Amino acid sequence: SRLRNALLALGSAVAAVALFGAPSVAVAASPEYIPGSDGAGDPYFPLAGNGGTDVVHYDLDLDYTPAPPEPAPLEGRLDGVATIDLIPTQDLSRFNLDLRGLTATEVTVAGKPATFTQTSNELVITPTKKVKAGKKTQVVVTYGGTTTQPTDIEGALYGWVTTRDGAMVVSEPDGSATWFPVNDHPTDKSTYSFEITVPEGLVAVANGLPSGPATTVDGKTTWYWDAPDPMAAYLATASVGDYVVNEYVAANGTPIFDAVDPARLGDPSASLALTSDMLVFFEGLYGPYPFNSYGAIVDDDTVGYALETQTRSFFSRTAREGTVAHELAHQWMGDHVSPNRWADIWLNEGWATYSQWMWAEHRGVDTAQAAFDDYLAIPADDEEWALVVADPGPLGLFLNPVYDRGAATLHALRVEIGDDAFFELTQTWVERFGGGTASTADFIALSEEVSGQELETFFDVWLYTPEKPVIW
Ligand code: ARG
Ligand code: ZN
Repeated sequence: SRLRNALLALGSAVAAVALFGAPSVAVAASPEYIPGSDGAGDPYFPLAGNGGTDVVHYDLDLDYTPAPPEPAPLEGRLDGVATIDLIPTQDLSRFNLDLRGLTATEVTVAGKPATFTQTSNELVITPTKKVKAGKKTQVVVTYGGTTTQPTDIEGALYGWVTTRDGAMVVSEPDGSATWFPVNDHPTDKSTYSFEITVPEGLVAVANGLPSGPATTVDGKTTWYWDAPDPMAAYLATASVGDYVVNEYVAANGTPIFDAVDPARLGDPSASLALTSDMLVFFEGLYGPYPFNSYGAIVDDDTVGYALETQTRSFFSRTAREGTVAHELAHQWMGDHVSPNRWADIWLNEGWATYSQWMWAEHRGVDTAQAAFDDYLAIPADDEEWALVVADPGPLGLFLNPVYDRGAATLHALRVEIGDDAFFELTQTWVERFGGGTASTADFIALSEEVSGQELETFFDVWLYTPEKPVIW
C-alpha cells in the first residue's frame, strides 16, 4: 500500500503538471528535501551566491605557480583544497557552490564522497546522504586548473589575475569563483583561513594576520593566514608577488602588514605612511576600526585599480593619498557594512568618496563643502546627472556618479539634517549593520529615524532621479 499511495501521489502530481505546467521543483520521493538554488537572488548577478546554504568558514589550501617568463603563455597553475563549513538553511537534496574556470576533481560532504557536475559558473553537489537544515556540515572540494586573466562584466581584470611573478587577487563584484568554490555574494559572510604555497622567494598575502611563520620545503614556501572577522567573498585576497613586507602597529593599536612591490616603493610608501593617522581620523567619524588588522598590497599596473580587500587594501600601480583614504574608509563602509544587493553599491562608493573629501578637509586641502560645490558646478545637461545612482545596473557599478554623486548625496544629507544627526547616523549605521549587509532602504529609514525628518523627497531627488538635483 506504500507503493500504491506513492503511485497515487505521483498520478496526482502528473495531473497537476498537466493542469498547471511543470512545477519548478521536481517531485521526489522525499519532497521536503529540495535542491538549493543557483543564485542568492541578486538581480544584477543572478548566478552569484547560492540558495540553501550559509557558509560559516572557508579554509583554503592553495598551491600556486605563476606564469613562466615570456614568451611562454600568460598562464599559471592553481591547485586547491577548500574545506568549507556550512549550515544548510533548508533540507537539501543537492546544493551549489560558484566555481568558474577551474575543475573540481573530488568532493566530499560530511566525510562521504559526493557526486558533482560543473556548468560555467556552478559546481552542483549531490551528497550521498541528504543534508538536513541547521546541521553544520563540512564540504571538501579538491580542484585546480590553469589560471589566466579573468574579466568582469565590464571587461576589467578581476578575480585571480595571473602575472609573471605572482597573482593579483581582487574579486569585486563576483570574481571569487575564479579561485575557490564559494557562495559569492555579500549576504553570505564567513571567516577564512589560508595556507598558500608558492615558489620560494615569493610572498603570498591574504586577509587578516599570519597564523604562523612561513615555512620552506624543497624550494616552495607556505604562508599561513587567519581572517577571523566575517567577510564577504569579494573582499578575500591571496595575492602573490615579490613583495617587501613592512609590519608595525598603528596609533590606534591596529597591527599593520604592508606588502609592496619593490619597484613601487617611494610615492606609495609616503601615502601608506599616513595610514596610522587616517585610522585615528576615521575612528573618530565611524567608531572603532572593525577588524583585527590592516595593511596594503601595492603591486604593478596590471589590474589598474584599487580594491578595499578586507583588512588588506590592494593598490595597482600607485597608491595616492586620496585612494589610500578611500580604501581605508571602505573597511567600515563596504566591508563591515556591506551592500545587501549590488544595486546598493553607491553606499560603498559614496561613503568612501565622501570620506576622501572629509580627509582632504582634515588635511587642510579643501573643505568637503568646496568639493561638493565643485561637483555641483557640472552643468545640468552633462551626462554625469543621467544615472540613477541607487540602481546603476550591473554595467554601471563603478561609473563616476556612483562615487561622486553618492558622496554629494551624503554631503547634502549632512547639510539637510545637521552635523549632530549626521554623525550620529554614521556611527549608528556601522553599529547596527556592521558584520552584515544593509540596503538603500535601510539607509533611508535610519536617516529618518535619527533625524526625525521626513526624507523621502530628498532621497528621491538625489538617488532615484536621473537629473541634476536642484539645490534650494
Ligand atoms: N571598489 C573599488 C574602489 O575602491 C573599485 C573596484 C573596481 N572593480 C572592477 N571590477 N572594476 O573604488
Ligand atoms: Zn571604492
